[in-house]
Amino acid sequence: MKIAIGCDHGGYALKKELLSYLASLGHEAADFGCADEASVDYPDIAFPVAEAVARGEYERGILICGTGVGVSISANKVRGARCALCGEETTARLTRAHNDANLLALGGRIIGAEAAKGIVAAFLSTDFSGDDRHARRIGKIGGYEA
Ligand code: RB5
Repeated sequence: MKIAIGCDHGGYALKKELLSYLASLGHEAADFGCADEASVDYPDIAFPVAEAVARGEYERGILICGTGVGVSISANKVRGARCALCGEETTARLTRAHNDANLLALGGRIIGAEAAKGIVAAFLSTDFSGDDRHARRIGKIGGYEA
């Protein structure tokens, strides 16, 4: 699967672990940065990743910051991006099945690498259910001016 992955400094260590893990599963991951633990602003990474996924250039995206909150808020500003912040596998599985989430956000300072690998595996291996009620609800997510 083609995956876009990006992080800020708070997610850099976990991203390195996940890049190896994704390769071991046979996935093709494009790294959108950052490149080290120097401080960066998470929207500068989250937007390009979310845009590339929303355009269909990658099947899924993975975004990591300290908590996962900043990157998920940012990604969800992009029309067509459905980014789910997950701290355990059940949410990762259900957000794929029910929300057809195309981006996963993780908190690099919140969860350990082994937990994150389980979440990533669940997120990548679960298909959207395709149920009418879920498709209808997703269709209602458009975004609007406040
Ligand atoms: C960076 O210090 C931190 O604020 C960021 O990684 C993230 O947790 C924001 O939501």
